[in-house]
Parts: sequence; structure tokens; C-alpha cells
Amino acid sequence: MAEARKRKIIALATLKGGSGKSTIAACLAAYWLLDGCKMALFDTDPQGSLINWRQPDGPLEDLRIIANHTQTVGQAIAQSAGFHDVIVADTAGFRNRTTIAVLAATDIAIVPVKASPFDLRVAADTLQLIGEINATKERRHRKIVVAVLLAQTTPGSVIARHLRAEISEAGLPIMAAELANRVVYGEAALAGLTPSVVQPNGKASKEIAAVAMEIENM
Ligand SMILES: Nc1ncnc2c1ncn2[C@@H]1O[C@H](COP(=O)(O)OP(=O)(O)OP(=O)(O)O)[C@@H](O)[C@H]1O
Ligand SMILES: [Mg+2]
Repeated sequence: MAEARKRKIIALATLKGGSGKSTIAACLAAYWLLDGCKMALFDTDPQGSLINWRQPDGPLEDLRIIANHTQTVGQAIAQSAGFHDVIVADTAGFRNRTTIAVLAATDIAIVPVKASPFDLRVAADTLQLIGEINATKERRHRKIVVAVLLAQTTPGSVIARHLRAEISEAGLPIMAAELANRVVYGEAALAGLTPSVVQPNGKASKEIAAVAMEIENM
């Protein structure tokens, strides 16, 4: 991915907590690190979910993790872009100035939506916020590319399919890849790792790779 990338700053954002932002941010950062990229992971959530997550001397030790939940985080991300192939930014699960600053600095925004009937509205609100940022003078000619990512789905369930159809019908961009609900995400995170490290040939790793590749082609 490192060579041909024009877009390299990827933010995970939703205005709802618990949708999987931090998990997906860690998984994508680890995936691209293992793929040979020089990676930085920005933890911009005041909760600081990721700053102490990573196993310090394991296979992810070269992943640079930076905690910054100030309103000047956009400058820090832009600066860091000069030294990294890809930057992944995790954000808080609510609207705040830091999240807006992260989005204003980002190339691609991924909006994870838990496969629950109550989360569609939240996805629409998040996409509206990104639309507002895209309408600003600064971003009018360099729009944030955005897509909804279905997360924590139950494979084969009706609800994920229904939600996907509803999101498409609402005219919202949705990724083809999705991440199922699998215990390996939590188990790997407890060990300071991700499924790509602990089960490189497992289903979760394949799903993460599919999400990463779809983002690379956005
Ligand atoms: N695909 C998945 N399968 C199973 N569990 C998952 C998956 N993704 C996330 N989880 C679990 O769901 C919970 C919430 O995930 P996570 O903390 O990543 O969400 P978040 O959007 O960052 O939340 P917050 O808004 O509070 O920061 C965690 O316990 C995590 O381990
Ligand atoms: Mg989080």
C-alpha cells in the first residue's frame, strides 16, 4: 500500500459509542504495519482506549501510537503524515471539536455501524457531519471520502442484510466488506494484539484484510 497512495489519513468516526471504532482502528493499523507500512495510530478519544492497548515488545512494537485529544490534533496528524505511510485515527463516540478537527484533516472516514436497527440514524447523522465539513472552504475541493462499515454482524443473519439494504436505499455509501462479531477481536485486544497477529489465517483476519483492501481502492 505504501507506494502509490494519494490518500493516507484514515479516521474511524461515529457519533455513537461502542460501534467498534477503536477495535477497527487497531486492526487496520496492525494490518498495514504487518503489510510493511510505516504506521501511526492516533488515539484522539479522551477515554484513551488505544494508548495502552498494544503489547509493547511484540510484533506490533513498531506501530507508533500517539494520544492527542486536543483541538490542534489536525496539525499533529498533518505533521505526522510526513513521516508515515499511513495514519489511522480513532475518535470519541460523540461529537466534539477534536473529532471535527480529526475529520477536517482526514482523507478517508470510515463510519462503523453495529448491525442493530437503532444505529442507522446515527450513521446518517455522522455522514451529515462529514458532509458539513466537506462543504467548508478548506475541504470543498478535497473532499473526505466516506463509507459506512457494517460491524459486529452475525454472519447469515437477516438484520445485517436488512440494514445494508436500508443504508443503500438511503443513498449512503456502504462498504462491501463487513466485520462479523467474533470473540477473537476482544481476546486479541486483551493480549495487546489484533486477529491479524493471533489468527493470521482466521476469518476475522480475512475480513480485516478485505476492509483494508477496499479502503486502499477508495
Ligand atoms: N467485530 C467484533 N466482534 C466482537 N466484538 C467486537 C467487535 N468489534 C468490537 N467488539 C467489542 O465491542 C466493544 C466495543 O468496541 P470498541 O471499543 O472498539 O468500540 P468504540 O466504538 O471504540 O467504543 P467507544 O465509542 O466507547 O470508544 C469492545 O468490547 C470490543 O471488544
Ligand atoms: Mg473507542
